[in-house]
Amino acid sequence: MKITFYGHSSLALEIGGKHILVDPFISGNPLVDGKIDINDLQADYILLTHAHQDHTLDAEAIAKNTGAVIVSNFEIATYYENKGIEVHPMNHGGKWEFEFGTVKYVCAVHTSSFADGTYGGQPGGFVIEGEHKNIYIAGDTALTMDMKLIPMYTKLDLAILPIGDNFTMDIDDAIIASDFVECDKVMGVHFDTFGFIEIDHAEAKKKFYDAGKDLMLFEIGESFEL
Ligand code: NI
Ligand code: MN
Repeated sequence: MKITFYGHSSLALEIGGKHILVDPFISGNPLVDGKIDINDLQADYILLTHAHQDHTLDAEAIAKNTGAVIVSNFEIATYYENKGIEVHPMNHGGKWEFEFGTVKYVCAVHTSSFADGTYGGQPGGFVIEGEHKNIYIAGDTALTMDMKLIPMYTKLDLAILPIGDNFTMDIDDAIIASDFVECDKVMGVHFDTFGFIEIDHAEAKKKFYDAGKDLMLFEIGESFEL
């Protein structure tokens, strides 16, 4: 599984030859600063954790460019279906076997509304089991006891957790979350984009290291093979 970081919580996954974008917020990210053109992105699927603009801004344009299927909760899927985009609606606790692997929509503690005020259902995260690697994309969330359910059905290879505080968990809660999901390998997201969520990278990595864990923080556009 190849994972590319596009800034904030935006990711591209390559699994079994399929391209999956997650929470595309690229054109409006001041840190991307025009370095990535959304018209260059490939997508067979676009996974959206919740409706907030810093997760959905580019979803419509990319879906229309690529013909990608938007996968999210029922309310978000319906919102895009009404714009003529192909969708796959899900809801919490449900899973579906896609051509690249199995996706389960899991609980997150956060809010979810579109920029125009449209209700975006309840926010979530994704557990993806694909190509011998299993990952958890938490989405925007507080630390929640529901995370303890995940290792009961999936042995994770990577947990992608928000770490920026203010709107989501901070570093310390993300370390506890890493215990809850029983995965010591963590990729941090949702930091530095806005003033409220700036973090000290060295201090964040040291806290994980001292807890016997590995925190990976990637540059925008950087890829790695899991
Ligand atoms: Ni949010
Ligand atoms: Mn967010």
